[in-house]
Amino acid sequence: MPPQNELLDDTPWQSLREQWLVPEDVTYLNHGSFGPSPRVVRESRQQWCDALEREPMDFFLRQYETELERALEKLGKFVGASARELVFVDNATFGMNVVAAQIELSAGDEVVLTDHEYGAVFRIWRDLCQASGAELKVARLPFPLTDPNEIVEAVQDTLTDRTKILVVSHVTSATATNFPVEDICQLARKRGVPTCVDGPHAIAMVPLNLRELGCDYYVASCHKWLSAPFGTGFLYMAKRHTQKVLPVVRSWGGSLSGQPSRWQDEFQWIGTRDPSNFLAVPTAIEFLEDIGIQKFRDRTHALAEYARSRIEALTGLPTFLPNSSEWYGSMISLPIPPSNDPDVGGVLRDPLQTALWERERIEVPVFHWHERRFIRVSCHLYTSTKDIDRLVDSLQQHLPEFSKSAEE
Ligand SMILES: Cc1ncc(COP(=O)(O)O)c(C=O)c1O
Repeated sequence: MPPQNELLDDTPWQSLREQWLVPEDVTYLNHGSFGPSPRVVRESRQQWCDALEREPMDFFLRQYETELERALEKLGKFVGASARELVFVDNATFGMNVVAAQIELSAGDEVVLTDHEYGAVFRIWRDLCQASGAELKVARLPFPLTDPNEIVEAVQDTLTDRTKILVVSHVTSATATNFPVEDICQLARKRGVPTCVDGPHAIAMVPLNLRELGCDYYVASCHKWLSAPFGTGFLYMAKRHTQKVLPVVRSWGGSLSGQPSRWQDEFQWIGTRDPSNFLAVPTAIEFLEDIGIQKFRDRTHALAEYARSRIEALTGLPTFLPNSSEWYGSMISLPIPPSNDPDVGGVLRDPLQTALWERERIEVPVFHWHERRFIRVSCHLYTSTKDIDRLVDSLQQHLPEFSKSAEE
């Protein structure tokens, strides 16, 4: 099928492909789960690692805190927050656990999530509710999604005077959907409910201004769409919460170089570790800024849209959300026919996914969500229309073997 618009012309993007180590014979369509870094980012990380290895005393006592501050300032500019409101953590999961440790719950309290939240996030809050006697309440969203107001209304209907926190994705995992988090946070503020936004997919994929968003907590991973090194997450806390923050790992709680104390101290030294991944985050931001962040978004959305139109045409199954960059960015989840394997289950274990890898060297997640089966296609700057075509050709060949036929 010929490309439909100029954003689908692969030629201007071809030279960028060599920035990534992904082997030529692998079609990597899962940047959304684990996003590899371009060469400049890997080199930057290595340089910081070498600086640490060369003279660890000098690095930890005289360079580390200044460089970390510089990295946080760059990240802060990118996400619309001050460096004083951010800390690096390993990943969004770590950040979510820190937030969970701040919230005092007791019997009768409620925690509200939507039914699109990430499985591990759901589990963190479910366990906390079980231990404290609080209730986990799930806002059930309409399916298919057609109007952002319906999402806001479903959340609104689930909040009560007993809600202690609302946890909501910025961009969802299984359904790859952009949520109207501005409106949701505004609604929660009016009701006096603190919000924690789960944002690992949003960083770079969609515009983010934490100052304007007005959430209480925001957790994210930079190793997804920003393509920073693995193990780079951050936690944002509105100033009103930083005074009583509890780290999940306790250490000295103070500056190594004797700086005045501040809330971030509890997180920035959690025992000795290699922080070179955090210090390479500015290079990941600069890499995308040099290309043009809007160009990145436009190109990768065009590829996701191309995947949508081709896979819809193959399966005859319509996508559950409108075809617009307001609803999805660089990643799209597409319904596929049900599996013919009665034991299929779990995350990332569908036999179709295994066959696509073993037979075709295509990495793409195939999974079940709320009794429906999906394939989720992630598009980054190393992705080409040929990668999507390869996926569609392979699906055409293998999907029938791993799916119920229309008569079943
Ligand atoms: C919506 C959402 N939240 C949280 C996470 C956890 O991210 P990490 O594994 O980087 O902590 C993911 C990972 O895919 C996710 O999609």
